[in-house]
Amino acid sequence: MTVREILKMGDPRLLKVAQAVTEFDTPELRRLVADMLETMVAAHGAGLAAPQIGVDLQLVIFGFEHNQRYPDAEPVPMTTLINPVITPLSQALDDGWEGCLSVPGLRGKVPRFAHIRYQGLDGSGAVIDREATGFHARVVQHECDHLIGRLYPTRMPDLTQLGFTSVLFPELDPADGDD
Ligand code: NI
Repeated sequence: MTVREILKMGDPRLLKVAQAVTEFDTPELRRLVADMLETMVAAHGAGLAAPQIGVDLQLVIFGFEHNQRYPDAEPVPMTTLINPVITPLSQALDDGWEGCLSVPGLRGKVPRFAHIRYQGLDGSGAVIDREATGFHARVVQHECDHLIGRLYPTRMPDLTQLGFTSVLFPELDPADGDD
């Protein structure tokens, strides 16, 4: 396993629509998921999308028991989600603060669907079909946005709600990740 470099906003590879994964349960896919997991954990991230390490595939990982960058967030199951489809189950939106490992040092308040269904496949090709609310729903929408070239600032209706993490959340330890 290898900690990979995380691309930052401005890199055109973060603005592409990613390709579908067509082969499952292969050594290459297992290595990619292992590298992404190690990279996410090293950065204290809540999730990571393949395009963030320069891999043009519809693959995201997310999940944590407790995340020091989002200390108030409820646990989210560790998940590898491939070729995802998100369906809002109501039109209700929640506002919440987000950071992104590709947008280091900043947080922004982003509206997301409060209640979603998400479907896709795991690394072995098994079907994932879940409902999610709260931070879980937010993480899934944030990560899957990376697969269509969207970074969270482009989802913000009010850019006065974008700021430096160190100013907005001085209680967070910068050693826990420069998100
Ligand atoms: Ni992100």
